[in-house]
Amino acid sequence: MRTEEGGPPAAAVTVRDLEEADLDNGFLEALEALAPVGLTAAQARAVYRARPPDLHTYVAVCRGRVVGTASLLVEPKFIHAGGRVGHVEDVAVSRQAQARGAGTALVRHAVEQARRYGCYKVILESSDALAGFYERLGFRRHSLSLRLDLK
Ligand SMILES: CC(C)(COP(=O)(O)OP(=O)(O)OC[C@H]1O[C@@H](n2cnc3c(N)ncnc32)[C@H](O)[C@@H]1OP(=O)(O)O)[C@@H](O)C(=O)NCCC(=O)NCCS
Repeated sequence: MRTEEGGPPAAAVTVRDLEEADLDNGFLEALEALAPVGLTAAQARAVYRARPPDLHTYVAVCRGRVVGTASLLVEPKFIHAGGRVGHVEDVAVSRQAQARGAGTALVRHAVEQARRYGCYKVILESSDALAGFYERLGFRRHSLSLRLDLK
């Protein structure tokens, strides 16, 4: 089968939970599209093993290799009658795999999981340049983000 442009069809992307073996199979490279990782393999394994149970990390896999990732932190609140908020963090797709739907599949999956965990909303921080990407997925601009650097 060929695409309309005459090239080979794009390989399917599947999204699943992060596994320890993914650390050596494209996961850290995908994160580099967002920010420098700066961990040795051993340090990355220690971070993986110390993650809290409410932090869920998903990976997009294409041809057996991780090409992207997104995380969902589920926060139980005292306000809103103990409601839960889903925080989407660290959405990244490796440069070579961008613009093929992996980012969309990852964010959709994180939102579906947030719904399954009973979250009443999902929030994330992004930039003006990427607002359109998230608006296409149902997000709207909201609130102001502030930051205090401690290191
Ligand atoms: C943003 C990012 C996750 C999108 O992933 P992706 O797999 O490339 O996205 P998709 O293929 O699902 O793209 C869906 C649409 O969003 C658009 N889009 C992707 N990246 C974009 C960007 N940086 N700015 C504006 N639009 C963008 C695409 O053009 C595409 O639209 P189209 O189908 O009309 O062409 C990816 O580009 C990335 O990792 N960027 C660097 C890290 C980053 O900025 N992460 C987001 C932190 S909030």
